Amino acid sequence: MRYGFFDTDADEYVIDRPDVPVSWTNYLGTKNMCTVLSHHGGGYSYYKSSQYGRISRFRQNGVPLDRPGHYVYLRDDADGDYWSASWQPVGKPFVEPGTEPDAEAGPGAAGRWTTRHGMGYTRFRSEYRGIDTEQTVFIPLDDDVELWDVRVTNTSDRVRELTVASYVEFSFHTITIDNQNLQMSLYASGSSYQDGIIEYDFYYEPWTFHYVASSETPSSYDSLRDNFIGAYRTETNPVAIERGEGTSKSATTQNHCGSLQHKIVLQPGETKRLVYLLGYGSRDAAGRAMQAKYSDVESAEVPAVDREFQRLRDYWHAKQDKLRIRTPHEGMNTMINAWTLLQAETCVVWSRFASFVEVGGRNGLGYRDTAQDVMSVIHSNPTKTRQRILELLRAQTEQGYGLHLFDPKAFDPDAEKLPDVPSPTIVPTPNVADLIHGLEDTCSDDHLWLVPSVVEYVKETGDLAFLDLEVPFAQGTPATVYEHLRRALEFSAEQVGPNGVALGLRADWNDCLNLGGGETALVTFLHAWAIRAFLEVAEPLGRTDDVERWTAELDRIRGVADSELWDGRWWIRGYTRDGVKIGSAANDEGKIFLEHQAWPVIAGITSQERGEASMDSVRELLGSEYGNHLNWPAFTKVDDTVGFVTRVYPGIKENAAIFSHPNAWPIIAEALLGRGDEAVQFYDAILPYHQNDNIEVRGAEPYAYVQFLYGRDHEWFGKAQNPWLTGTAGWMYTAVTKYVLGVRLALDGLVVDPSIPQDWDGFEVRREWRDAVYEIEVRNPEHVSHGVASVTVDGVAHEPGTPIPPAPAGSTVSVVVTLG
Ligand code: GLC
Repeated sequence: MRYGFFDTDADEYVIDRPDVPVSWTNYLGTKNMCTVLSHHGGGYSYYKSSQYGRISRFRQNGVPLDRPGHYVYLRDDADGDYWSASWQPVGKPFVEPGTEPDAEAGPGAAGRWTTRHGMGYTRFRSEYRGIDTEQTVFIPLDDDVELWDVRVTNTSDRVRELTVASYVEFSFHTITIDNQNLQMSLYASGSSYQDGIIEYDFYYEPWTFHYVASSETPSSYDSLRDNFIGAYRTETNPVAIERGEGTSKSATTQNHCGSLQHKIVLQPGETKRLVYLLGYGSRDAAGRAMQAKYSDVESAEVPAVDREFQRLRDYWHAKQDKLRIRTPHEGMNTMINAWTLLQAETCVVWSRFASFVEVGGRNGLGYRDTAQDVMSVIHSNPTKTRQRILELLRAQTEQGYGLHLFDPKAFDPDAEKLPDVPSPTIVPTPNVADLIHGLEDTCSDDHLWLVPSVVEYVKETGDLAFLDLEVPFAQGTPATVYEHLRRALEFSAEQVGPNGVALGLRADWNDCLNLGGGETALVTFLHAWAIRAFLEVAEPLGRTDDVERWTAELDRIRGVADSELWDGRWWIRGYTRDGVKIGSAANDEGKIFLEHQAWPVIAGITSQERGEASMDSVRELLGSEYGNHLNWPAFTKVDDTVGFVTRVYPGIKENAAIFSHPNAWPIIAEALLGRGDEAVQFYDAILPYHQNDNIEVRGAEPYAYVQFLYGRDHEWFGKAQNPWLTGTAGWMYTAVTKYVLGVRLALDGLVVDPSIPQDWDGFEVRREWRDAVYEIEVRNPEHVSHGVASVTVDGVAHEPGTPIPPAPAGSTVSVVVTLG
């Protein structure tokens, strides 16, 4: 079953059958304001923080699906029939894809609804009874406002009198108060109308306002939700739309909304354009200026809304142009060039707490998630990456570990401070010292991810001096970035158990493996990987003491891995605090885990033979048509020395589901082992693109990775849950571009070392790096997977295996790599 298709040339996903069983979302916004928007207009906006800065309301986990949203209603004033630009919330009958709606049909006829999710925008289109409406929703790069560019065209041959209306329900800015303390939210906020602008205010917080405006003076409005909807009704049949007129009343109490109604008359073939604005800020400080800017739709040669839309398109194209691939794998091209990049950027820019599943009740950054996510978008978003890295460094303790979940503002001396207004809701002001948790809440892996991320940042930018930058630890003590990295390694070197393996602490990457005093192989392997990254900078910086110290530690880890952690066919997962092995063939449950198998290869601490054996075991014991399971067999008996994982239903999340994120790592390992066919097999199994026509099983959107798919122990095997906010996107991007296609960076040059399916004739990559462009063509005349026979750079032979040095800024370099 399919509900849409990829329009790869336009970088859009097109939903041409609107009754998708679950919400398929998109993310709008690049700076301060973000909207999570579903394929039929449901969703919410916030300013900076999804916990504290809510703009529009969303009834999470609601019935019916996705209410409310950012809606445009249309009404035929001749007969009172009305519908929505985005199918829902009115939800008229619709024609099957490929069928034309009847323009002359009467009220209640079937129309056609199409949604295009693009990069940073979503466009709804309805064709209903001879009226063709488009609502393009986006947030311009530099204005804190969401625009709805609405075009209504009369495709019938009669004159049409219509009402067009906006609707959005405002939210109290703090989500917890909006949900839990209505005696605050209902009476502390109000709305008013003046000069075509509805302003929503928080009376006691004179810096928080939102507004709704439009490009033309409306004929009526509603700013009180219950006036617009009416008692015993929903967004499906609002009384103000049924009537064709708003009440034009506002009040300093209750629930508020932004509905502006416009009366229009369209001759046959005529189009009317209206822009609605949903903005952050007051009427006077922002609303009037934005209204003026975006009202020139009829007069200007290039209206501001078009100019800003184009700027947004250019912004995303520029990111995509940093790295574009052309391979024989259409799904890989479509996902890497657009969707996976978009998803990876979304996780970095908006963190992991705003979706329809994570509905914004948490704030700040997860240490390990952010430290991983940044690594994949350094080329496309160096500014945000740098900001995030600094935030992570400031939330690293002087002992070396990271604060697992933290609000970067608490540690940022330059963070904006809100005016001190006495509030009836007592929210204790946090003391920074209280935010620094001790070892009992520390995860054994958080800090380690940061080390390779910083090193990748330095490779991308060439900014070695970044390592000398002074950034304080969470406790306030100053240190260079280099020292931060060293402390991260030291912490893990100290936290070692009786078998010489890293202590498990609160958890490692796997939140549900709570080994406490037990030991984790994963972290031992990650430690080795982080050490290798550190050595890549310590050596050129001439830090010989550190090079010796960490080379010795790497050797120690190699020895421990060899003697303690190999189980015969795969790597054990660790030991409980009672010294019992887990993830071993000797166990009854959880004999093998996925998440650590790839790391000995990635960290370069094992042999080809063991690397291949562990990957073969993954394929054989964890593999499936939807990707690799996280462990096998699922746990069914509670064992708190193993952790919470034993209290999770079999086949769900960390207990033997197909957890997407660690599916990327075996792709990297297979590529490093030179087995390109196997690498791409792993990639293909979990690639959402391949599930486009299998939505009755998958459920979730086929353009985004999800957190997990139910495993084979669950009757919903293959169903995908928790889209968008997962480290999978970043890691898949890294796995494909840097390892399968093999275009990665050394400190002093560009490396091209692919591992591809043997039947590929070759591929092309366009990579921008340090202001030069590399046009890379890889040829595969012998149909091998791996192994570079020759390289030319601008036609001149170059020694295979040696990095291609950075070219002067502004130059274009032609690189031809022949495998064989
Ligand atoms: C969630 C968490 C992530 C963790 C993973 C596995 O996705 O955000 O930090 O690594 O679960 O437990």
